Amino acid sequence: MPMLARPAFDYALLLSQLGTARARFDVDWLAECSSTNTVLQERAAKGAASGSVLVADVQTAGRGRRGRSWLSSPDNSLTFSLLWRLPPAVRSAGLSLAVGLAVAQALESLGARGVGLKWPNDIWLLGQKLGGVLIEVAFDSNGLGLIIGIGLNLRHDAELETQLGHASAALSDEDLLLPREVVLGAVLRELASVLDRFGSEGFTALRAAWCARNALLGLPVRVSSESGEHLGNCGDVAADGALILHTAYGAHLLITGGDVSLAPMSR
Ligand code: BTN
Repeated sequence: MPMLARPAFDYALLLSQLGTARARFDVDWLAECSSTNTVLQERAAKGAASGSVLVADVQTAGRGRRGRSWLSSPDNSLTFSLLWRLPPAVRSAGLSLAVGLAVAQALESLGARGVGLKWPNDIWLLGQKLGGVLIEVAFDSNGLGLIIGIGLNLRHDAELETQLGHASAALSDEDLLLPREVVLGAVLRELASVLDRFGSEGFTALRAAWCARNALLGLPVRVSSESGEHLGNCGDVAADGALILHTAYGAHLLITGGDVSLAPMSR
């Protein structure tokens, strides 16, 4: 059977979705690249402007947090990166949580109801991972730039799920069958607004909205970090974005890095 060609990127649809936020972004689409984060890093090094976006249908070397690889489905995922330059004096503590919040709010604006956030920056839908965020730093002649990479599952792909070895969520679980341009436009619009707020007020201003979507709040969790493994109940996040872990001994640990998962007993 002949392969169906993937539809070319619909810039007009994206621009209509972006509305007035279109002036903030310069979006480029590639049918294939290694990793949108990697290619945008190279563009940042050559002086690309804040608001540059690279979206690709296929990533041959997609990257996830903590050195993991990121697999996605060319026809059923959205994979893109945004170069953003924060004002020089802004502290970046809590930035990755702010980005996760922007994605969650964008998906909610499209009609998703079961969106949650798993610290530090996983996007969950109905209790499964829907997407993730990888933020990297780019230094260039314009100063400090952030490469914000986002991957989201739009629809299920059985082959991908077999490769991953576990189930994941897709926006289609909520009967949202949306073109990648519509989802990208909504996420970029929300990112502009959340990153502006982060730039002027820091994570403190966004903390309550993040906590309201904390997918693991109150549940027994295991934290794997460089300082070792910790068990406890998942709490809120602190003003700097650290996760508060309530341990059995009454202590409150502040977790600033690592992975959090449901403790085996609670599954
Ligand atoms: C994670 O959950 O581990 C983060 C995944 C981030 C994946 C995105 S897809 C677009 C961008 N390019 C990459 O290589 N990674 C990020």
